[in-house]
Amino acid sequence: MFKKITATFLMMALSLGAFADEGMWLPLLIERLNYQDMQKYGLKLTAEEIYSVNQSSLKDAIVSFGGFCSGEIISDEGLLLTNHHCGYGAIQSHSTVENDYLSEGFWAMSREEELPNEDLYARFLIRMEDVTEEVLSQLNPMMSEEERAETIARVSKEIAKEAKGDTHYDVVVKEFFAGNEFYMFVYETFTDVRLVGAPPESIGKFGGDTDNWMWPRHTGDFSLFRVYTGPDGKPADYSPDNIPLDPRHYLPISLQGVQEGDFAMVMGYPGSTDRYLTSFGVKQALEQTNPTRVKIRDKRLEILKEDMEANPDVRIKYASKYASVSNYWKYFIGQSKGLKNLNVLAIKQELEDNYMIWAEANEEEAPEYLTALDLIKESYEASYDANLSYLYLVEAALGTEIIRFANSFRGLETALAEGQKDQQRINNLIESLKENTLEHFKNYNAPTDQKVMAALLKMYYEDVPEKDHPPVFDIVKEKYNGNFEKWAEEVFEKSIFDDKEAVMGFLQNPNVKKLKKDPAYIAATSFIDNYYKNIAPQLKEINAKRDRGNRVFVRGLRQMLPDKKFYPNANSTMRLSFGQVLGYDPRDAVSYDFYTTLDGVMEKMDNTDPEFVVPEKLVELYEQKDYGQYANEEGELVVAFITNNDITGGNSGSPVIDANGFLIGTAFDGNWEAMSGDIAFEPELQRCINVDIRYTLFIIDKMAGAGHLIEEMTLVTEEDPELPEEAQLGEEL
Ligand code: ARG
Repeated sequence: MFKKITATFLMMALSLGAFADEGMWLPLLIERLNYQDMQKYGLKLTAEEIYSVNQSSLKDAIVSFGGFCSGEIISDEGLLLTNHHCGYGAIQSHSTVENDYLSEGFWAMSREEELPNEDLYARFLIRMEDVTEEVLSQLNPMMSEEERAETIARVSKEIAKEAKGDTHYDVVVKEFFAGNEFYMFVYETFTDVRLVGAPPESIGKFGGDTDNWMWPRHTGDFSLFRVYTGPDGKPADYSPDNIPLDPRHYLPISLQGVQEGDFAMVMGYPGSTDRYLTSFGVKQALEQTNPTRVKIRDKRLEILKEDMEANPDVRIKYASKYASVSNYWKYFIGQSKGLKNLNVLAIKQELEDNYMIWAEANEEEAPEYLTALDLIKESYEASYDANLSYLYLVEAALGTEIIRFANSFRGLETALAEGQKDQQRINNLIESLKENTLEHFKNYNAPTDQKVMAALLKMYYEDVPEKDHPPVFDIVKEKYNGNFEKWAEEVFEKSIFDDKEAVMGFLQNPNVKKLKKDPAYIAATSFIDNYYKNIAPQLKEINAKRDRGNRVFVRGLRQMLPDKKFYPNANSTMRLSFGQVLGYDPRDAVSYDFYTTLDGVMEKMDNTDPEFVVPEKLVELYEQKDYGQYANEEGELVVAFITNNDITGGNSGSPVIDANGFLIGTAFDGNWEAMSGDIAFEPELQRCINVDIRYTLFIIDKMAGAGHLIEEMTLVTEEDPELPEEAQLGEEL
C-alpha cells in the first residue's frame, strides 16, 4: 500500500483541485464525483437531467461551435446562441465596406436572409465512454514513447470504428490525465450553420482590446446562428432544401436575473489547460515562451494596426486576424503577470517537494515515481534552444501570411514530382488549392504582409542562435547584406504568392520547376525543412522524456492523495463547471460587484475612441429607460455578471445555467487578476465573465427589432413553469 501523507501536505495539494468551484468535470462522472456538492450549492436537477444517453438532458442543448468555441440551442427550431467573438469570423466574411456587418450589425428578418457559412459546424455529444482498460491493456512499460503513441493511435482507431458502425456519427478517443486514462466521444456534426444575427461591434465588442480579459465589463458579446439539417433531420451540407434542426433539448431562458450566491453552472468545450504543469514548465513560460510570443506579436500588431487605420478595406480584411493575434498577445502578458503576482512558481515547487517526500517513502513499491520529476526537469533544461526555434517558426515564419500560404503548396510539389501516376489525386489537390486561394485572397493585403515579413523574419534572424538558422538566411546575408526590407521587397516582386491572378494562373498549369524557383516558396520550404530536419528531432526526444515524466508524476499525485477528486486538463471535450454568482476583491481596498449595468456603458462611452463608441439607438433606449421585461427589480438593465466557474478559451459561448436548468447568461471571458488560471486556479480571484441573458434579449428585441426571434424562445419568469416538450428534461429519446 502507498503510505498516507501528513496534514500540511494536504493543504498544498488543495491547490490542485479540491475547491468546489475549481474543476472542469466530465459530464459522465458528475453523478459519482460532483452531484452531492452541486446539490449543496443549490442545484435542483438530477444527475440524469444533466447527462444521460437514454433521455433528453442538458448536454443535448450544448454544442461545440466549429471546434473553437461553445454554443447552446435556445429554441425548438435550432436557434444557436454563442459569443460575438466566436461568430466574428463568420460575420466578417459576409462584410464589405458597403455592407459592413461588423460596424452595423446584421439581423436576418426572415429565414431566407440567414447566411450560410462554409467550414462552420455545430457538434453535439451523443455519448461518452471510459475506454481506459481497453487502451491500457494494449500497452506495456517497456514500450518507447513512440511505440506507445502508435499503439494508442491504432487501438483508438479500432475502438472508434467499432463504435461508429454504420452510423453517421463521428467518434474519437482522447487521452486524459497525461495519458493515464482514455475516453471515447460519439458526436453528431451538423455542417449547415447559418448566421442569424449579430449586434454591431460597438455592442458585441464594446471595450475592445482595452477591456478584453477584464472585469468590470460592459460587452454584449453574443451572436445568433441557426443549425439546419437535411429534410430527413440528419446532418447535411448547405442546401436551400434544408430545414431547421429539431433538437433533443433546448434551454428555456430565465428572466428572473441573478443574485450573489446563486448556483451557476457552465457547460461547454474548454480547449486546453495545464493545471499539472511543473515548476520547470512555469519557469520556461516566464523566461522564454511568453515574452517571445509577446515580443513577436507586439510587432505584428503594430504593423497591422497602422495599415488598418489607414484603409477601411484593410480594416475589414484584417479585423478577425487582428483580434485573434491580439487576444492571445494580451493573454500571455497577463499570464506572466499572474504567475509572478500569485507566486505560482513557489507553490509548484512546494508541491513538488512534498511529492518527492512521498515518492521516497514509497520507493520500494514504485521506484518510477522517484525519477519522474528529474525526467521533466531534464527535458525542460534541454529544450530552450529548440523551443525558441519552434516559437519563431509558428509566430514569425508562419505568422507571415505569404510564407504560410506558399507552404500549403508543398503537397502539390510532391504529387507533381511523382509524375502522372495518380492524375486524379493531382486534380483533386489543384481543385482544393484553387478554393483555398480564393479564400486566402479575400482577406489579404500584400503591402501589409510584406512589412510583416521583413520585421518578423529579421527578429527571427537576430534572436534565434545561428546554428538553428534556416538556410534561406544565408541568402539574405550574402545577397541582401542582411537587409530584410530589401529581401522582402524582392520576394514580393518576384513571387506569385502575393497575387491571386498569378496563383490561379499557375494552378491552370502547375509545374514543379516554377514552384521551386519562386522566392516565397523557397523561403517557406527553407523554414519548414529546417524545422523538420534540425529542430523537430530534438523536440521529439525532449517531449518523449517529458511525456513519460508527466504521466508518472500525475499518476503519482493521484496515488498520493487517494481521497481527493481530480479533474483532467481541458482538451476540447465537453466539461461542466459549477459554482456560484460571486464578486471579488481584486486588490487592497478594492471590491468588485458581481454585475454591471447599462449605466456603466454610458460611463465608458467615448465616441472619439473606436473601442468605446456607443450606438445612438442604444443611447436613446438608455435615456428612455425603455428596458421592458429585461430590467431588474431596481429598474436597471444588467449587462454582464461574474461567477466563480472554472472556464478557459473554447468555453466562449457556453451557457451559464441556473439551478433549474434555465439559461441565465453566456460565458465570454476570464479576468485580468487571474490570467495564470490555466496553470493554477485561484479561487479568491478567478472569475468567469458572462453576458446577462436579459441584455442579449434586450438587444435582439429593442435594438434590432428582431422580436420574431424572441417569439421562438421559451422565456420563464417563475420557478416551475409549464414547458414545451423539447424544453423539458428527462424526455424519452
Ligand atoms: N478574451 C476572450 C476570449 O479569449 C475574447 C474576447 C474577445 N474580445 C476582444 N476584445 N478581443 O474568449
